[in-house]
Amino acid sequence: MSTAAIEIVGLTKDYPVGFWRKRMRRSLDSLNLQVEEGEIFGFLGPNGAGKTTTLKLLMRLIFPTAGTARILGRSIGDTRMHRDIGYLPEQPYFYDHLTARELLDYYTRFSGYPAAERRDRIARMLERVGLSSAADVQLRKFSKGMLQRVGIAQAIVHDPKVVFLDEPMSGLDPIGRREVRDIILDLKQQGRTVFFSTHILSDAEMLCDRVAVLHLGQLRGVGAPGEIVSIEVHGVEILFESREGRPLPLDLIQRATRTGQRYRIEVPEAELYPTLGQLRDCDARILSVSTVRPTLEDYFFRLVDRPKEAHAAVEVNVP
Ligand SMILES: Nc1ncnc2c1ncn2[C@@H]1O[C@H](COP(=O)(O)OP(=O)(O)O)[C@@H](O)[C@H]1O
Ligand SMILES: [Mg+2]
Repeated sequence: MSTAAIEIVGLTKDYPVGFWRKRMRRSLDSLNLQVEEGEIFGFLGPNGAGKTTTLKLLMRLIFPTAGTARILGRSIGDTRMHRDIGYLPEQPYFYDHLTARELLDYYTRFSGYPAAERRDRIARMLERVGLSSAADVQLRKFSKGMLQRVGIAQAIVHDPKVVFLDEPMSGLDPIGRREVRDIILDLKQQGRTVFFSTHILSDAEMLCDRVAVLHLGQLRGVGAPGEIVSIEVHGVEILFESREGRPLPLDLIQRATRTGQRYRIEVPEAELYPTLGQLRDCDARILSVSTVRPTLEDYFFRLVDRPKEAHAAVEVNVP
């Protein structure tokens, strides 16, 4: 039987709230999750969902109210397991008078490598995250993207089997995000397990074997990005123009969005022909008909029950 890389059972965290800290608020509610070896697993959720809390619990930086977790078959309380895992915190704090090379040296000392091996390893790691030429520059002169890459280098310099990254792409420009994506894909190629949290859904959709969606401390869904997308009702988008003196039926106007003379409407597949019939009856000009492939974004926003007004545009196609 192969053991899961990460196995989370009933993990729960309450934080005290209020001045007297007498009341407790549940920030993570009985999380059950299993991540297989070699997977890139995306942990998705809006701000405040409980992603960082989960990662801190797994890293033993905070302690659970209830529940347990195992990483590589070992209880998270077992410190031996820390040799085999890497962690990028959400807001890494680095001594900014150090250079990138010095910082990595500081971290690799904990791993017990001899000096010569440390040197080689660090040089290779700097190369890998594209920081060779900035290796001896003080971190305070680094851009946000460069710091994030040092943070990732720090998390993987000791060849961990499982890598935890808390919002690794946040605050990065598109190029920085692509670089981080490439590093994550590289880790997968080497057979490592990557567990990363994000609220940037397109990154998760592109990278992940599976994703979990967390909202208000509760797990709302787990699956391959493709599977999650296919449970959605697929709609069809119709773009059309009305003709002079031929008013459109009111129910169509109400459900369509208008830009100048053009209208756009999304309907469920089953309503396509009836809608085209209605448009033909008033001699509307059809500009295009295309299927709408729902994205993880759609799924995500449906799950997190955004306020009605934010949903208005989407609700057009919900009968
Ligand atoms: N140290 C803390 N004390 C009290 N509440 C906290 C603490 N850390 C996080 N929280 C609360 O727990 C919830 C989840 O936070 P967090 O895990 O940081 O979410 P995410 O990383 O998904 O944005 C939030 O409501 C947050 O305010
Ligand atoms: Mg967070």
